[in-house]
Amino acid sequence: MRSASPGLDRREAEVYAKLKPALPQHVAIIMDGNGRWARRRHLPRVAGHRAGVAAVRSTVETAARIHIPALTLYAFSAENWKRPGAEVSFLMRLLRHYLAEQLPTLMRNNIRLDYIGRIHELPADVQERMCQARTETSGNSGMVLTLALNYGSRGELVDAVSSLVSKAATNGGFEHLKVSEEAIAQQLYTCHLPELDMVIRTSGEMRLSNFLLWQAAYAEIYVTEKLWPDFRGIDLLTAILEYQKRERRYGGISAQ
Ligand code: FPP
Repeated sequence: MRSASPGLDRREAEVYAKLKPALPQHVAIIMDGNGRWARRRHLPRVAGHRAGVAAVRSTVETAARIHIPALTLYAFSAENWKRPGAEVSFLMRLLRHYLAEQLPTLMRNNIRLDYIGRIHELPADVQERMCQARTETSGNSGMVLTLALNYGSRGELVDAVSSLVSKAATNGGFEHLKVSEEAIAQQLYTCHLPELDMVIRTSGEMRLSNFLLWQAAYAEIYVTEKLWPDFRGIDLLTAILEYQKRERRYGGISAQ
């Protein structure tokens, strides 16, 4: 049980007080349901994405306040390019706007921003803003907020194996090529992040959708029916409470 609640509102503080000390070290979220949220209100899909930013703000701030070391958000998948051009452009504009507008909040909460995915394929103006925001927050020592952009887990594994092979080729040939779990993990985009403990998915869908497939090997999966624009910091705390009730055996047997 915890007593002090670091800058949380009353409802959040009530849930926080029930948490055990061992928090997940790395939480990743599949933010799903923006389109459905908008459709239920007879609004265009992009209104759901816009409303999704409020959910991002609340979740990020709460995660940082309770000192989760790493939070990773699936913001744009490698498959999302298949959406109508106008929706893709809107998402890119929204990202640029978010990075500019949220910088003071990231600084105030000591959050360091980073990215995973094939960033070099994103529009140049978006990359520029991303680079600025990452540089400005690089001295922060609190939570690492990683945005997965143009991210696909299979592509990440292809990039990791390609990198192993080309390193071997430049370091004296394939007899030096060592393929092991550690060697692959060291080439993943997430190599600097803690082990993934928990994946949250909103909108009730029971899939990983090409997100952190390797990293999620022993992660606890939590699915909520809430649509992403309705998700808030208190929902993150509720998910963590549920996570702490699970018994993680990693293929072993129950502890006595
Ligand atoms: C999935 O909902 C959501 C996305 C593909 C985009 C996620 C973007 C945001 C949450 C807003 C901006 C984020 C940042 C970091 C600035 P969907 O459109 O697939 O929903 P549906 O399944 O109901 O159609």
